[in-house]
Amino acid sequence: MKIWEDDNQKYIKAMMEKNTTEQNEKLTKRLEEIDFSVLEHIERKETVNERGVFAPLDAVEVSEIEARGAEFKELGLKAIREGKVGAVLLAGGQGTRLGLDRPKGTLNIGVAKELYLFEQLLRNLMDVTDEAGVYVPLYIMTSNINNADTTAFFEEHDYFGYPKDYVKFFVQEMVPACDYEGRIYMESQTEVAMSPNGNGGWFSSMVNAGLLSDIKERGIEWINVFAVDNCLQRIADPMFVGATIAYGCESGAKVVRKAAPDERVGVLCTEDGKPSIAEYYEMTEEMSTARKENGDLKYGFGVILNYLFSEKKLEQIADARMPIHVVEKKIPYMDVDGTFVKPEQPNGYKFETLVLDMVHMMDDCIPYEVVREREFAPIKNLHGVDSLDSARELMKGCGIEL
Ligand code: UTP
Repeated sequence: MKIWEDDNQKYIKAMMEKNTTEQNEKLTKRLEEIDFSVLEHIERKETVNERGVFAPLDAVEVSEIEARGAEFKELGLKAIREGKVGAVLLAGGQGTRLGLDRPKGTLNIGVAKELYLFEQLLRNLMDVTDEAGVYVPLYIMTSNINNADTTAFFEEHDYFGYPKDYVKFFVQEMVPACDYEGRIYMESQTEVAMSPNGNGGWFSSMVNAGLLSDIKERGIEWINVFAVDNCLQRIADPMFVGATIAYGCESGAKVVRKAAPDERVGVLCTEDGKPSIAEYYEMTEEMSTARKENGDLKYGFGVILNYLFSEKKLEQIADARMPIHVVEKKIPYMDVDGTFVKPEQPNGYKFETLVLDMVHMMDDCIPYEVVREREFAPIKNLHGVDSLDSARELMKGCGIEL
């Protein structure tokens, strides 16, 4: 059955009843192009994360990093200088919690002066490239929704002083969004409400965009992937790269020590012997409060969306299917009576793959501890927890002039 023949699909039906023949031709053509199989995941949403057996995974803690700092740094800088390290900025999200109508990276995080989130991230990267004396190729993932605005912003600001040749944009794929009953939302009379398909497909999107040849030509062996919203993010951090190499691992994840046993962060551990991330809601009380002999939490380190992956391994898993997460979000849509609705609260589902699921596809992963106050200031909301306000405080604490 075609999706527009399904009586349950009230938004599509309503538009079709209102549309002219021409508009309907356009709409049906569009509907035929879209893969609606993601809807099947609604029924399976409770089981998407059926998990194996979790066990703790020891982190490379700050004390060890300090003791072996010179060795890690030298190894990391060497890899960077040899052009073996690339970075991927995940900027395809819609930042619905922040409620901006433009890319999150264009947010002005300054107070007395203008300082854009993208600008701060580029500065953080340039701390490393200044020290290494070479540039690190930076790939930026956008979506159809924000690609034009993002690229224009970089042009307008002259790439914040980073050489343009080292920056490449690629666009991630989109999937339809629906209400809680699985009814596809419409964005207009002829367009389906589509949303970016999560941050887990970044490598396959890079491949689809033809960037694998660029990666290979440049001889990149390690890719550091990170989120747009952490303004204290250290990018292509030589110590992190060096530690991952020194440990002989094919991936690494930056982690912070949990503030409390019940802190709502995903914890890096093992699952059936392979590295994995246990979400806070998947942890039993027993797991989250279990302690080692020295009193530290056994599951004591949370991920901050900063990972290092071996490029070779990424190629091997590029075609692997990733779990699809059904997430509740605010989805603007055209109602059956033709009014456009911008919801204040989540009103339906988006379908996303997540980069954290890639960790479980690795044979090993080192949890690399960083100091939260130095490296973790995510901006998810305007105020409150993980917000612009809290990030500004943290930035000031790091001596960054705002
Ligand atoms: P979040 O999970 O915080 O999602 O993204 P979001 O879309 O930015 O924000 P909300 O939940 O709607 O408020 C974490 C990182 O992953 C990127 C984001 O840009 C951010 O850097 N991301 C997320 C993508 O690149 N693509 C996506 O489809 C989703």
